[in-house]
Amino acid sequence: MKIMFLLLNPTSFLSVLITIITLINSIASQPAYIYTFCSDPQNITENASYTSNLSALLSSLSSKASLNSFYTDSSNGIYSLYLCRGDVSSNTCQTCINNATREIQRRCASNGTAIIWYDMCMLRYSNTNFHGVYQNNPRLFMWNNENTTSPDELNFGALSLIYTLMEYVPYTDMMFGTNQSASHDGSQKRYALTQCSRDINSNDCSSCLGILRDAVTQCCQAKRGWRIFAPSCSMRYEEYLFYQLPSTPVPVPSPQVPEPVPGESNTKTWLLRN
Ligand SMILES: *[C@@H]1O[C@H](CO)[C@@H](O)[C@H](O)[C@H]1NC(C)=O
Ligand SMILES: *[C@@H]1O[C@H](CO)[C@@H](O)[C@H](O)[C@H]1NC(C)=O
Ligand SMILES: *[C@@H]1O[C@H](CO)[C@@H](O)[C@H](O)[C@H]1NC(C)=O
Ligand SMILES: *[C@@H]1O[C@H](CO)[C@@H](O)[C@H](O)[C@H]1NC(C)=O
Ligand SMILES: *[C@@H]1O[C@H](CO)[C@@H](O)[C@H](O)[C@H]1NC(C)=O
Ligand SMILES: *[C@@H]1O[C@H](CO)[C@@H](O)[C@H](O)[C@H]1NC(C)=O
Ligand SMILES: *[C@@H]1O[C@H](CO)[C@@H](O)[C@H](O)[C@H]1NC(C)=O
Repeated sequence: MKIMFLLLNPTSFLSVLITIITLINSIASQPAYIYTFCSDPQNITENASYTSNLSALLSSLSSKASLNSFYTDSSNGIYSLYLCRGDVSSNTCQTCINNATREIQRRCASNGTAIIWYDMCMLRYSNTNFHGVYQNNPRLFMWNNENTTSPDELNFGALSLIYTLMEYVPYTDMMFGTNQSASHDGSQKRYALTQCSRDINSNDCSSCLGILRDAVTQCCQAKRGWRIFAPSCSMRYEEYLFYQLPSTPVPVPSPQVPEPVPGESNTKTWLLRN
């Protein structure tokens, strides 16, 4: 895998463009890592005490992931939270959070604030209390560089699917939902997913999803697939089934969530923080 970072400084914000040149050859059991964002350097003389306090908090947090798909915890002035994608098994959630707690410390051990995103989960911590505080920055954009195969479609299909989800996802217990529809010409299917972090309320979830929906034009209009992540919510759209369908009454061996299709080898990622 080759990643290229390009630091841009347009008007008032700073953004980072990363081009993933080749497909992330993820081994099925390993969680698909996306991006880490660290900020807020810690006082160096307090570093040792801070990192050991952080480590204790995160290992305690990690131990919750076999039973809970969402958890918040705090100790010694550090606040943490993780959220697994609403469709993943508890096994996948645990694997993802285990990796996330270790990886975020490897990358951001001496930072007061950090967030790590995977396909299947996300984890954050901060030395200020963010629990229940709606946050739509920084925003991470990831898209398939190929345009949609239906030229007249321009993602209107994507947005209408997202609208159907926004109507009820903020008001469900899981604050998570998926939906599918037919492509414009009816020959193919389209798939979408939205999710909010369950520490925020329905109004904030709705606002967060609205911000991301509007941001689609910044990166992803007419793209075959895209994802936008913020600390409090996320959404994704693809031309292939990328989520687990709700389990059927008759237990059949559940297929692995399909890994990125060939078209996804040409993926771009862009971080925007204000
Ligand atoms: C993270 O913390 C380290 C050590 O304090 C610091 O050097 C680095 O600049 C911080 N990173 C960011 C993005 O603030
Ligand atoms: C760092 O921490 C030490 C010990 O608590 C304190 O004396 C010092 O003022 C702090 N430095 C900064 C820059 O905050
Ligand atoms: C803080 O501690 C971590 C973990 O021990 C270490 O990796 C890092 O280099 C230290 N950072 C600073 C700025 O001393
Ligand atoms: C780490 O936790 C201890 C209490 O267990 C506390 O006294 C100390 O101030 C904490 N360190 C930092 C840097 O907050
Ligand atoms: C997390 O998983 C990745 C593979 O996705 C692996 O390369 C990495 O070593 C793991 N990190 C830790 C800290 O175990
Ligand atoms: C996708 O469409 C845009 C706008 O029509 C065009 O500028 C761009 O070159 C196309 N990209 C690809 C990879 O075909
Ligand atoms: C899913 O999308 C279809 C087509 O856009 C729509 O008719 C339906 O109401 C949506 N269902 C849910 C549960 O959002």
